Formats: sequence, structure tokens, C-alpha cells
Amino acid sequence: MQSGRLLYEGKAKKLFATDDPDVVLHVYKDDATAFNAQKRGSIAGKGQVNAATTAHLMRFLESKGIPTHLIHQPEPGMLLTQKVEIIGVEVIVRNYTAGSMAKRLGLEEGLKIHDPIVEFCLKSDELGDPLMLDQHAIFMGLATRAELDEIQSLARRINTLLRTYLLDRDLILVDFKLEFGRNRAGKVILADEISPDTCRFWDRTTRKKLDKDRFRRDLGEVEEAYQEAYRRIISEVN
Ligand code: TMP
Ligand code: ASP
Repeated sequence: MQSGRLLYEGKAKKLFATDDPDVVLHVYKDDATAFNAQKRGSIAGKGQVNAATTAHLMRFLESKGIPTHLIHQPEPGMLLTQKVEIIGVEVIVRNYTAGSMAKRLGLEEGLKIHDPIVEFCLKSDELGDPLMLDQHAIFMGLATRAELDEIQSLARRINTLLRTYLLDRDLILVDFKLEFGRNRAGKVILADEISPDTCRFWDRTTRKKLDKDRFRRDLGEVEEAYQEAYRRIISEVN
């Protein structure tokens, strides 16, 4: 597949056109940003880990009936996907308190949320991805009621599948962010990535952080954490 013109450059990926108008090439970068790009750096090997983790977990989800944009991984650090129109709503699913939810509500981190919480945020770097209601998203024309219901239901199914899959590999899925898109047929499918950049993974026993919080919070062993999360995620268990 020939890589064509640059369609879009994000903080962690570049998207290129291919010779098929319905297929795009994602090239994952080692660049890392946090706090709406106020903090910048690089994590060696991150691009390869994030592309391979996304491919592995999206293949798993597809095997369980979740539609995703993934087509295949042509080489390390790259993914070929269906071209979608990204829905401008970031979807966060939370199983334990952490991050912005803990901060906003004055809660300690690590409290178990028995009925997982699904949050919607406006996808806007300028505004710092603010939390919003489904009604705001509909008012702004970002998605229809039916699409948001579908997104919410997919996000909950994805959470149920991933948290069990990861716990079998000694990782607690604390929270994660998903993005969805509309494919050419207008169907809502899972897009973007699933990686240590977009999820919080804690060790099941020690609760050691094995995700981007090591970079965000200057905890050290950042590269090692990405490699360890990846090693566990691809491991076979009985
Ligand atoms: P938060 O607690 O900072 O809102 O983050 C919730 C989850 O979303 C966490 O797993 C990290 C992920 N996330 C992203 O993927 N991109 C972002 O820009 C932010 C702020 C969080
Ligand atoms: N990716 C986001 C940024 O740059 C935030 C984050 O992941 O913490 O700013």
C-alpha cells in the first residue's frame, strides 16, 4: 500500500492517504504531550507499542463483535484503517476514580466504581476537551441521539470485554478514552487507538501505574512501563 499525502498530524500520530480512498495509514509517533500539550517529551518505543497494542486489542474486540476501523498492521508503528469521519465527542469510561474525575470531585484515586461511569467530552484542544452532556453534543450537531445511544452501549460492552481480558493479564483497567467515527456506510465504529496513552493500567497486586501517568506525573520508568503493559497485553493466558 503506497503512503500518500499527509491528511492530518495529531499529537501522537500522523495520518496519510493511501491509493484506496476508503483506507488511511496511521503512523504512530514517540512524541508525548500532556496537560493539553503544555508538557512535551518523547517516549522511546511508544509509537510501536501503541500501534501494536491498538491492533491487538481491536482484533480482540472485533472477535467479540465490536466494529472497529482496524484493517491490519503493515509494519511496526503503523496501522491501516478504514477512513472514518471522527465524531467530535471523546468517550471516557471509568472503573476506578483517577485523574480528572478524582480532581474535579475532590475524591481520592483508586475507589472502585461498581457501575462504570461513561463521560462525554468535547474533542477540542483549544478548550482542553471539556466535559459535556449528551444534550450538548446533540445541540452542537456532533451526533444524533441514536448515535450517542449506540456509542454509550458500545463503550460499555468494550469496557466489559477489556477489563476481563486485562485482569486475566494482571492489569486493572482503571479508565480509558475512546473515539468513534462514521464509516462510508454511515455506521458508527470504534476508531483512534487503545494504548497506554489512552488508558490507565495498574498492576493488579501492587497498583503500580503502567501507562502515560508515569510521563504526566514524572514517575520515572516510562519506557519500561509501556513495554511491560504491551508484554502483558499480548501474552497468552489459559
Ligand atoms: P482524565 O482522568 O485525565 O480525564 O483521563 C481519563 C482517561 O482518558 C485516561 O485513561 C487517559 C485518557 N486521556 C486521553 O486519552 N487523552 C487525553 O487527552 C486525556 C486528558 C485523557
Ligand atoms: N494528550 C493530551 C495532551 O496533550 C493530554 C493527556 O494525555 O494527558 O495534552
